[in-house]
Amino acid sequence: MFNLVKGTHDVILSEADKYSYIEQTFIQVAEFFNYKEFRTPIIESSELFQRSVGDSSDIVRKEMYTFLDKGDRSITLRPELTAGIIRSIVNNKLLALGDIPVKAYYVGPCFRYERPQQGRYRQFNQFGIECVGVVSPYRDVEVISLCYYGLKILGFKNLKLVINCLGDDESRTNYKNVLRDYFAKHLDNMCGDCKERFKLNVLRILDCKDPSDQEIVKNAPRIEDYLTPKSKENFDKILKTLDNLGIEYEIDRNLVRGLDYYSDVVFEFHYTSSKGINYGALCGGGHYNKLIQEIGGPKDIEGCGFAIGIERIASVMNDDNLFADIDESLDCYVMPLDISYQNKAIEIATTLRLNGFKSDVNLEGKGLKGMLKKALKFNTKYALILGEDEVNSNKIVVKDLKEEKQESIELDELISYLDQKESEDCECHHHQNEE
Ligand code: HAM
Repeated sequence: MFNLVKGTHDVILSEADKYSYIEQTFIQVAEFFNYKEFRTPIIESSELFQRSVGDSSDIVRKEMYTFLDKGDRSITLRPELTAGIIRSIVNNKLLALGDIPVKAYYVGPCFRYERPQQGRYRQFNQFGIECVGVVSPYRDVEVISLCYYGLKILGFKNLKLVINCLGDDESRTNYKNVLRDYFAKHLDNMCGDCKERFKLNVLRILDCKDPSDQEIVKNAPRIEDYLTPKSKENFDKILKTLDNLGIEYEIDRNLVRGLDYYSDVVFEFHYTSSKGINYGALCGGGHYNKLIQEIGGPKDIEGCGFAIGIERIASVMNDDNLFADIDESLDCYVMPLDISYQNKAIEIATTLRLNGFKSDVNLEGKGLKGMLKKALKFNTKYALILGEDEVNSNKIVVKDLKEEKQESIELDELISYLDQKESEDCECHHHQNEE
């Protein structure tokens, strides 16, 4: 027996269906917004992440799975996908003026050597998007709204959009200078992490969770007083458009996000499940104005994106019973009453599948009772019984397991019979809904 590697988990059976459901929902929303799928490698050069996610981030400093390959190259398992997506956009020269914006979506595993806890794993899955090539604040809103609609369609209510503006280069430089002056006076009384952050990226101190440090942060200078008129104006446009779209938000001036590439708007969606469990940020994202250039792309091209954590979304949806719509039922279960009818049974199952009926067949040689039990376990609509009489007369017994009625049907007419039953079923649902 081998144990799971710490911080990893198997996503299997109905849990895997749930993950697919979340991913497919977001994929459909992204396609609706004219995004195209990108699949980039799980391994990238370590330098890519040092340059983008940044040397001062916790991710690069402490959490990367980095190793030398047999050719002595430093390789890292991607801790997130934005860097790889931008690298791919740049390498494939997708940023010709006529082609922008490039709208990319992606799904896949990420790796971070973090302390495993509620909703936090060392291998986890993200869905995300990047919209590259534009500077309009309305693109930023489009990105935020895509995330919002995805979560809405999954059934989330009372979402909390937490938003902040980190400003452009000039705003941030000015702000960082006053922050450094302020925190220099308090640094002796602050935690070790903050001392480190002071040297690497003073903005990250605002993010500190230490209660006594938070007291010091409370009185620190505030970003809104250092935004350039341009940054301020863009942020105001974003907020106003969110108002018009009916997306509620809360401005958190201390939201800086843990990755170094952000500028101007940053955001997260927060949610507490009905069980009162706060899983932290369901997703996070923001605008980046230098990332493309830093990865070797053209100047003056900016982008915006977000990523959601599939694990976190699934946990909350489990707690809040939001998976009710997933259809795990089976249309038909073919049950040969003797093993000599199994060949006939798989022929019938194949015909059913080719005609759009999700089907399975019992090949375990069980008796009628055992097979019915399995059919119920699979949440089957129709049990199809193949006994001696049926085989001799080219018929099959169709047992409707909900209505508990059965009929003997000519095999040639099986598909049209089931089609007919399904359409009656549909109409019946329709009427019920109308009432
Ligand atoms: P991030 O905030 O580092 O952003 O990660 C996005 C989401 O991934 C988080 O909100 C969380 O749901 C999930 N997540 C992160 N770490 C873990 C973990 N250890 N276990 C489970 N889930 C986790 C980014 O990755 C950026 N690339 C987002 C972005 C895209 N910004 C612009 N474009």
